[in-house]
Amino acid sequence: MSDTPVPPNPNTQVLQHSQSPTVQQRNGKTVSQSHCEMSEIVLPNDTNSLGNMMGGRLLHLMDICAAISAQRHTNRVCVTAAVDSVKFHAPIKEGEIVVIKSQVNRTFRTSMEVELNVWAENPLAQTYRKCNQAFYTFVAVDEHDRPIPVPPIIPETDEQRERFENAAKRRELRLLLAGRISLNDAQHIRDEFI
Ligand SMILES: CC(C)(COP(=O)(O)OP(=O)(O)OC[C@H]1O[C@@H](n2cnc3c(N)ncnc32)[C@H](O)[C@@H]1OP(=O)(O)O)[C@@H](O)C(=O)NCCC(=O)NCCS
Repeated sequence: MSDTPVPPNPNTQVLQHSQSPTVQQRNGKTVSQSHCEMSEIVLPNDTNSLGNMMGGRLLHLMDICAAISAQRHTNRVCVTAAVDSVKFHAPIKEGEIVVIKSQVNRTFRTSMEVELNVWAENPLAQTYRKCNQAFYTFVAVDEHDRPIPVPPIIPETDEQRERFENAAKRRELRLLLAGRISLNDAQHIRDEFI
């Protein structure tokens, strides 16, 4: 059976015959093309002795969701380069559904920031609560694991444009904390530190 040309993500644009992937790589892709939503029911094996979902299990699912967003954007293998501090605001209980949504906020040269938001859905009580937010950095790599340039991202809404702007500041902060740049190089946040 041959592969279907219809992409699994309804937000993903199908290339026209006249468009090569190179054209799309050059022109960039919209934020919505990188959207990913994952839902999983929390099973006993995912929980601690209080019946709450274990943090490591949630981080694993978040990493997968973020990797899908990164790979939808780049059409390349992407690796996790960094995970910003993650706060667990509210526990997710056994039997609830964990809903994870991600998208690429901004691309840089070979890296990109992926934002994740996590909710707990209780289908019995019909409740939906926000539990967690995190920012992951992914790097696109070639077949030799070497970083390669990623296509630009096109923010289309005010919310996406705000995330795009803030992503530059977050990137400088994480590179500063990782010792990869100096404060002098951090043009977006330098003034706030001095
Ligand atoms: C991520 C990785 C490819 C970066 O390789 P590198 O030799 O440091 O390459 P570079 O210095 O060219 O950096 C590549 C990009 O990563 C970014 N980067 C590297 N470390 C980073 C960090 N701690 N935080 C944010 N971005 C980082 C750089 O800023 C650069 O981005 P840019 O090109 O958009 O400016 C490499 O460190 C690696 O393969 N790490 C392991 C990845 C992995 O196995 N992940 C799963 C972990 S369990």
